[in-house]
Amino acid sequence: MCGIVGYIGNNAVEEVLLSGLKSLEYRGYDSAGIALNDNGQIDVYRAKGKLDNLSRVLNAQDFSHKHISQGIGHIRWATHGGATVENAHPHKSNDGKLVLVHNGIIENYKELREELKREGFHFFSQTDTETAVHLIDREYKVLRSLEAAVISAVSKLRGAFAFCIMHHDEPDKIIAVRKNAPLIVGLGNNENFIASDIPAIIGKAQKIVYLDDNELAIVRKDNVTVKDFNGRLINKNPEALNFAAEDISKRGYKHYMLKEINEQPDIIRNVLARRMKDAGSPVATDGLDAGQLFAGVEKIEIIACGTSLHAAMVARHVFEELTGIAVTVEAASEYIYKRVLTDEKTLCIGISQSGETADTITAVKLAKEKGAKILTVTNRIDSSIVRYADGVLPLEAGIEVSVAATKSYTAQLVSLYLLAIAVAEVRHSAAPEVLSGLKQELLELPAKMEQVLGATETIKRCAEKYCGNKSFIYIARGINLASAYEGALKLKEISYINAGGYAAGELKHGPIALLDENMPVLAVLVPGSRTYDKMISNCEEAKARHARLIAVTTEADNAHEGLFDEQIKVPAVSEILSPVLLNIPLQLLAYYTAEALGREVDQPRNLAKSVTVE
Ligand code: M6R
Repeated sequence: MCGIVGYIGNNAVEEVLLSGLKSLEYRGYDSAGIALNDNGQIDVYRAKGKLDNLSRVLNAQDFSHKHISQGIGHIRWATHGGATVENAHPHKSNDGKLVLVHNGIIENYKELREELKREGFHFFSQTDTETAVHLIDREYKVLRSLEAAVISAVSKLRGAFAFCIMHHDEPDKIIAVRKNAPLIVGLGNNENFIASDIPAIIGKAQKIVYLDDNELAIVRKDNVTVKDFNGRLINKNPEALNFAAEDISKRGYKHYMLKEINEQPDIIRNVLARRMKDAGSPVATDGLDAGQLFAGVEKIEIIACGTSLHAAMVARHVFEELTGIAVTVEAASEYIYKRVLTDEKTLCIGISQSGETADTITAVKLAKEKGAKILTVTNRIDSSIVRYADGVLPLEAGIEVSVAATKSYTAQLVSLYLLAIAVAEVRHSAAPEVLSGLKQELLELPAKMEQVLGATETIKRCAEKYCGNKSFIYIARGINLASAYEGALKLKEISYINAGGYAAGELKHGPIALLDENMPVLAVLVPGSRTYDKMISNCEEAKARHARLIAVTTEADNAHEGLFDEQIKVPAVSEILSPVLLNIPLQLLAYYTAEALGREVDQPRNLAKSVTVE
């Protein structure tokens, strides 16, 4: 949700900022803006909509005669105030000397705004951010030091904020501030960078400093000082930046989403290679002591949002089946507004690709306060959620750029399968032959995934045939109910077609009223599973109401050829592992449908990849 960048150094500042923002575009695309310090004069350029619009504004400028030494930039996902130029960042003080970009939400902005208005400050936007600008400006006018003004102002702000701040009278520095919103400092050679996330500094900075909450960095061209909100110096150890430009390139694919879908077999191969020698060896958990973490655990609570929540639904089945421990799954945004019955015998698993999802972080914090042990499953071991963890399960799926989560979901599933197997091995809660059978099947998954990815004609044909439909229903039972939810989420988020996932047995309790010849019903099936016959009955019921039926099933499914209008088949797989394989055609169906409709696949409207507001 919003991306911020800052740069101080000798390279073309506007270009460094723009390329940084480009790589943060997944965080929002309602508007963009930069502020440049040109020899003491601060110029602000802003545009509504995508970054290309800002590029056009900048292309119309002649920067050749300017002496720009520093700048800050922003890409916005609108929270307070619509997507307009007035609400675009950077925002500036009334005298034009102080500029600021912000990610987060200032919760007490209304009171502060009224107070500042009474004192004579003029507001030009509807944002919460502008309050911070005038507040810091007010403190500056008294304290005459940007650092002191920022420290004084942040003590009056409630909520979440990452800021980059520049002042006309202190042109040697940018101040970066972090509280409950991510912010990093990239260290270069006689130049330094600030960013919401690593992609903005890949290929530019050599080292990285992770700011913690309640810290500010005074970033100069040749040095960086970090302090806490009381002004005390903090010693930070810069870490190596272990990413290359290749990690955020499209590698020849038209969209990041398609690239990321196609990366899945190799990601799973690597995860398996690290954690499992062969089907006969125990599963390793990368430094995580499964025995210790699960010792005394009587209940597992899994908390997540969106796609990660669907991974949690699958994990519930797997953990209950293999470990015998009762599992509850809850959307983080719901968990935090009820009586939480968690205690020290509970293991709370927070799943988050980004590790920055505000709802999930708040829920995990709450569970921790109640005494639960915390395990986080994340693709970003440098993220905020990790701070609350007693154990971390890294996904190692590589940077996921597309807003629609694909490879991280598959990596979540496989990592959680491996963890459940490891726990079952330690607790002896499942028969050894069951566990070795599962491990053997896991090792075969990447090749089967490649088979699915290599034969996409039927999926493309279905996408083209059905992309004109206004709504879709996805049905499944058991462990694949999550697949129905996830398939429907993927379709709606990138194609804007209304799609709902339903437990197939629930169809007759209401949703069946929606069925007619204009309503495709996509059924996720596993022949031979305990729910297969019931699924077929539900499909018959849908057919009897003239719905078009699409089966996403396995090669073993030949008994009901006539029932379905379309069949998309994957290699045979056991029910318990089927969500990994059956999800790939659902990802591709969503992708090709969005493509057929000409949608902006990687940046669907209204969305952002890291949802850092509650
Ligand atoms: O980073 P997280 O896994 O915590 O993100 C959770 C959701 O915001 C995310 O999965 C979202 O639903 C995706 N856009 C789905 O494709």
